[in-house]
Amino acid sequence: MKLTTVLFLLLLVSVGSSAAPSRWRKRVHEPCKRLVFYFHDVIYNGQNAQNATSAIVGAPSWGNNTILAGQNHFGDVVVFDDPITMDNNFHSPSVGRAQGFYLYDKRDIFTAWLGFSFVFNSTEHKGTINFAGADPLMNKTRDISVIGGTGDFFMTRGIATIMTDAFEGEVYFRLRVDIKLYECW
Ligand SMILES: *[C@@H]1O[C@H](CO)[C@@H](O)[C@H](O)[C@H]1NC(C)=O
Ligand SMILES: *[C@@H]1O[C@H](CO)[C@@H](O)[C@H](O)[C@H]1NC(C)=O
Ligand SMILES: *[C@@H]1O[C@H](CO)[C@@H](O)[C@H](O)[C@H]1NC(C)=O
Ligand SMILES: *[C@@H]1O[C@H](CO)[C@@H](O)[C@H](O)[C@H]1NC(C)=O
Repeated sequence: MKLTTVLFLLLLVSVGSSAAPSRWRKRVHEPCKRLVFYFHDVIYNGQNAQNATSAIVGAPSWGNNTILAGQNHFGDVVVFDDPITMDNNFHSPSVGRAQGFYLYDKRDIFTAWLGFSFVFNSTEHKGTINFAGADPLMNKTRDISVIGGTGDFFMTRGIATIMTDAFEGEVYFRLRVDIKLYECW
């Protein structure tokens, strides 16, 4: 009798604890702020030193630092300092710089890992937004995490949907970054 009561109580507790968090976790999925930017990456290829905004800084032993390696660039690490614009025109005034790195991390398909910051210094935005996440390049759109921010973007968090907006050989690409912030202060 006593044992069944204990078991019954345990059952109640376990049902209660497994049901409650999902109720508490439920949140409204509406961004508090939404921003769209483009950034432009010109990769150094041995001939464009004047215009390049990024450089291969690490390569696997079958590659080199001038040309992205074979096998889907696996093992290449690229550091960038790219201009950010409000529209998709490379020549538009920049509102800041996208600074960080990407590395190619799969041999069989094109996929990268991104870690970078948007560093704003315009009349409209001051501060930084920090991004990190997997970038499966074969996907039309990819979601990466907005892991924090400073200045106008103090303590922010959210999701950035990135899309390759232009791609010219292995020298230039442009990313559209649709930033949805779910925590605004
Ligand atoms: C740099 O870019 C300009 C215009 O975008 C182009 O005319 C010039 O040839 C480029 N220079 C190099 C070294 O790639
Ligand atoms: C780098 O690698 C590319 C292709 O793998 C090759 O064409 C090029 O000659 C290499 N450059 C240097 C400086 O080794
Ligand atoms: C931001 O812009 C102002 C005015 O152009 C300049 O004085 C300042 O050094 C810039 N700051 C950074 C971090 O680039
Ligand atoms: C890539 O696309 C697939 C299907 O279109 C989707 O399920 C997946 O979440 C995407 N991955 C990322 C990281 O965005």
